[in-house]
Amino acid sequence: MRIKGILLAGGHGTRLWPMTKLVSKQMLNVYDKPMIFYPLSTLMLAGVKDICIVTQDENIKLYERFLGTGAALGLNLTYQSQNEPTGLPDAINLTKDFIGKSSVILALGDNIFYGRDFEEQLKSGVESLNNNTASILIHKVRDPSKFGVAKIVNNKVVELIEKPKKFVSNYAITGLYFLPNDCVDYSSKLKPSERGELEITDLLDCYLNNDRLIDIKTGRGTYWTDCGTVSSLNDASNFVKAIQDSQGLVICAPEELAIYKSFI
Ligand code: G1P
Repeated sequence: MRIKGILLAGGHGTRLWPMTKLVSKQMLNVYDKPMIFYPLSTLMLAGVKDICIVTQDENIKLYERFLGTGAALGLNLTYQSQNEPTGLPDAINLTKDFIGKSSVILALGDNIFYGRDFEEQLKSGVESLNNNTASILIHKVRDPSKFGVAKIVNNKVVELIEKPKKFVSNYAITGLYFLPNDCVDYSSKLKPSERGELEITDLLDCYLNNDRLIDIKTGRGTYWTDCGTVSSLNDASNFVKAIQDSQGLVICAPEELAIYKSFI
């Protein structure tokens, strides 16, 4: 089954102002490379070559100038505008022609993953798509109230709650979603929430309610963060620096992944 990637690089990045006043958040650096390299590397590591970058009109030219067609990396990159913060499932609505008959890996442009087992976790996600089942990566965090959270009973996800006010569990839903092709139908039927957005948790509920949602736990050895705040962005930079300095490697480098995955 063909899998296409959607990389979300929109949003106003208000928590990172004034840095994001003129510059797209996903172009800010995480240590030695632009933030967008990290989710791009994640999609490449999952084996995805066809990727649509979703961002505001004003940023499309910027990303096109920066990444072009992706041919140098063996990728096929396209660009779609999403000017209003209408929610993650609306990015699926906007890219339905790009998706066509494929399944989808939706990657949030500010999410960074790294770890020995991460490639295996991606393989599990791809396997779920081959079985027409959705999956999410859930990661144990100290402060779950900032994220979508999975309530787990008897080791099984029973409920998904966006930014719960009361404690539900420590398992945050990371910004990497494996979605079968019918996410296009489901997304087109969703209604906006009170804050006026189509919610990713509502889309995931469509799968959960039909027993078609698998949770993949990232486990102890995987690092995950989003880079939405000055503090988390700084933490991510420090993490990348520490790994790279100690091992003499450059992590999440698209050029290296293109070779590793035999894309070029
Ligand atoms: C979004 C999702 C949330 C998820 C998070 C991961 O939140 O709505 O469920 O846990 O990304 O980064 P946002 O960062 O847009 O507030």
